[in-house]
Amino acid sequence: MANILVEQADFVRVIKVNRPDKLNALNIETLKEFLKVAQSAKEDRNTRAVVLTGAGDKAFIAGADIEEMNKMTPTEAKEFSDLGNNLVSTVENMGKVSIACINGYALGGGCELSLGCTFRFLSEKAVLGQPEVKLGIMPGFGGSQRLVRFLGKPKALELCITGRNIDAEEALILGLGNRVYSKEDLFPKTLEFAKEISQLAPIAVRYIIEAINRGSECTLREALDFESHLFSLCFATEDMRIGTTAFLKKQKPNFTGK
Ligand code: HXC
Repeated sequence: MANILVEQADFVRVIKVNRPDKLNALNIETLKEFLKVAQSAKEDRNTRAVVLTGAGDKAFIAGADIEEMNKMTPTEAKEFSDLGNNLVSTVENMGKVSIACINGYALGGGCELSLGCTFRFLSEKAVLGQPEVKLGIMPGFGGSQRLVRFLGKPKALELCITGRNIDAEEALILGLGNRVYSKEDLFPKTLEFAKEISQLAPIAVRYIIEAINRGSECTLREALDFESHLFSLCFATEDMRIGTTAFLKKQKPNFTGK
């Protein structure tokens, strides 16, 4: 792959956008490569957590590629938006934990991709924002719609309309960031967390993600019903017996993923 690097560390897959000279901006080729890699991570039973990050020390992803967008027709722009949305939704619904390891700028499409992740871990130097309005466009990889669900209408409107950037501290206060680390600690701490998560029962983790993702889109009554069904399905897993038995025997569970 020209623009994506992939590494496997035990049950954790690390996916890195590798266009540091363009601050890892997402062009069509990169989006297509990323989508393939995300789909393969979704299908791989030996991948239980995924870390997404950007190459270099300046940027996670500084947005969609502005040079490429500059020449797009409306039809091409729609296809581009659909491709990005497909990627973010694939990450969001991978059925495993995804962590955006935000080592610098996460702007426009970069911020939008991070919103599809289960968690966002930030370096102290991280900068997030939806600056599309300054280019005469608007978010197109789901940013306006996920931000309103994450932050509520007043903040989503403010961030998308002003296009102002926020730093790590503000992102943490708003709840967009889950953790903030020094630049040096960010990647090792993220990997450590991903490895810890990958020791948990993967089917239970998947059901929790599904319950929260789908449940937040339907009525409370439907969502409670859905949760109850997923809860009962956990009892069909080996891991449920392993986890509860280990507790009763005061032992550490060794989950099998079955
Ligand atoms: C293409 C980009 C880019 C981008 C940076 N570069 N961001 N190229 N698309 N989104 C390129 C620059 O052109 C430059 O290339 C190189 O990366 C280094 O960037 P500089 O601007 O020289 O770095 P710096 O001065 O440190 O400024 C960093 C920055 C700035 C503040 C992040 O690059 C910036 O404002 N970038 C654009 C951010 C943005 O507007 N993102 C949203 C895009 S719209 P050269 O060749 O000159 O060295 C979007 C829409 C999503 O994401 C939805 C689509 C459907």
